[in-house]
Amino acid sequence: MEFIRECAGWFYLIGAILFILTLRGLSSPKTAIRGNTYGMVAMAIAVVTTFFVVDHVVVWLILVPMVLGAIVGISRARTVPMTQMPETVALMHSLVGLSAVLIAVAAILHNNHLVALFSENADVLKHAGIEESHMSKVHFFELFVGCFVGAITFTASLFAYGKLAAKKWAKTISGGWVKPLQAILFIVMLGCGAYFFTSGNMTAFWLMTVFALAFGWVWIAPVGGGDMPVVVSLLNSFSGWAAAGIGFTLENNMLIVAGSLVGSSGAILSYIMCKAMNRSIINVLFGGAMTSGAAAATQGAQVERNHRSGSADDAGFLMSNADSVVIVPGYGMAQGRAQNAVKELSIVLKEQGVKVRFAIHPVAGRMPGHMNVLLAEADVPYEDILEMDEINSDFPATDVVLVIGANDVVNPAAKDNPNSPIYGMPILEAYKARTIMVIKRSMATGYAGLDNDLFYDEKTMMIFGDAKKVVEDMTKSVNGSGH
Ligand code: TAP
Repeated sequence: MEFIRECAGWFYLIGAILFILTLRGLSSPKTAIRGNTYGMVAMAIAVVTTFFVVDHVVVWLILVPMVLGAIVGISRARTVPMTQMPETVALMHSLVGLSAVLIAVAAILHNNHLVALFSENADVLKHAGIEESHMSKVHFFELFVGCFVGAITFTASLFAYGKLAAKKWAKTISGGWVKPLQAILFIVMLGCGAYFFTSGNMTAFWLMTVFALAFGWVWIAPVGGGDMPVVVSLLNSFSGWAAAGIGFTLENNMLIVAGSLVGSSGAILSYIMCKAMNRSIINVLFGGAMTSGAAAATQGAQVERNHRSGSADDAGFLMSNADSVVIVPGYGMAQGRAQNAVKELSIVLKEQGVKVRFAIHPVAGRMPGHMNVLLAEADVPYEDILEMDEINSDFPATDVVLVIGANDVVNPAAKDNPNSPIYGMPILEAYKARTIMVIKRSMATGYAGLDNDLFYDEKTMMIFGDAKKVVEDMTKSVNGSGH
C-alpha cells in the first residue's frame, strides 16, 4: 500500500500515456479495439491509485456506487442498438457535468465547514496539530468555473439526449425572445459567479448554479435535431474541461490530464464535423436548425426536372459486368438497416471478379463514424473502406458508383454552385464516375434540404425503394447473371 502511495506519480504517468495511446488507437477502425483496451487499463490504474493516494477514504461509499454504476453501464452497453449511440453518449456526458457540479459543491461545503470549525475551536484544533486550511482564491476560481461549466453541460446534454431520443419534453424552442433570454441568463450567471468569487457568498454560488442549469437548457433547445451530434461532441469537450478544472482543485494530476484530453479531443472533433459540413461552430450553436434555412434558400427554385430510373435487375447486371464498383453509403443505409445486405452484395460482386470498395464521407449519416460503425458491424474488411481523401482521385477511373441512401455528401452543388448553402463543403466526387446508381425511396431531399444535380445527370440511374430491399434484389440479380 505504501509502495503504491509513494509511486502514485509514476502510476498516474503510465495512466496518462495509456490515455494518449487510447486516442491514437481510436483514430482508426483497425486499432480501435486496442485503443479501447488501453483506455480501460488506464482508467483502472487511475481509480486504484486514487484509492491509495487520498486520505480518509470511506471505501464502501466509493465501491457501492461504482459497482451499481458498472452494472447499469454493462447492461446498457450490451443492449443499446448502434442507432441509439449518440443519445447514450449525450446521457453519459450529462452525468460527467453533474459530477463536476457535485464535486464543486462538496469541496465548497467542506471548506466552509473547516472555516466554521476553526472559528469555534481554533485553539483545540491547533493544539491537536491541525492547521487551518482556507481555500485560496485560485481554488475558488477553479470551482466556480468547474461548477458552471458542469451545470451547463448537465442540462444541455440532458436536452441533447431527449432530442435525439425524440422525448416529448425535449422540445425545440424558437422565436425572437430566445437569444435575449440566453444573453440575460448568461450575464446573470457570470455576475453571481463573480460575486461568489470575490465575497464567498453562498447564495450567489447557489444562484449561479441554478442560472447555469437554466442557461444550458435554453442554449441548446433552439438547436435542430440534426445538429445535435456536433453539440454532443462539443459538450463532451466541455465535460472534459470541467473535469480538468476540478482536477486542479482536488490536486489530482490524473484528472487534469484525462479531462484535458477529453476537452481537446472533443473540441477537435467538433471542428472536424463543422468543417465537413461547411458550417461554423457559432452557426451550429446559435444559428438554429440548418434544414429550415437551407430549405428556405432553395424554395421556389424547385422546378420539374427529368431523371432516369431503372430496376435492381438492371443495376445488378451492369455491376456484374463492371471492373470496379465504389459503394457510397449514407444516412439511408442506416435508416433502412441495409448494411448486412450491402456486405452480401459486395461479396457476390467480388466473386464475379469485380473490384469493390466503400467510400466514406466524414459526416455521412448522423453521427461521427456512423458508416464505419455500421460497416464494421457487418464485418466489411477494413482494407475495403476508404476515406474521402483516399478515394476521390479514383472516381474518374471507376465504372460504377453505387450510392446507397446518401444525398448531401455527393451533391456536386458543393463544388460548382457558389449560391448553394453547402458550397465549399468537401464531397465524395461520385459525379466523376462512368456510371452512377442511386438507391433512395423518392426524389426527396436529404438533411440539408437541397436538390441534388447528381440525380438528374445523364450518367445517373435512380433505383427507387427501401435500401435493404433494393440491395437484396441487386444481389439476386448479380447471382443470377453469374458468368
Ligand atoms: P442525407 O443527405 O441526409 O440523405 C439521406 C438520403 O437517404 C435521403 O435523401 C433519403 O431519401 C434517403 N433514405 C432515407 N431512408 C432511406 C431508406 N430506408 N432507403 C433508401 N433511402 C433512404 O444523408 P447523407 O448523404 O449521409 O448526408 C448526411 C447529412 O447529415 C449531411 O448533410 C451532414 O452535414 C448531416 N449531418 C451529419 C452529421 C454527422 S456527424 N454524420 C451530423 C449532423 C448532420 P428518400 O427519403 O427519398 O429515401
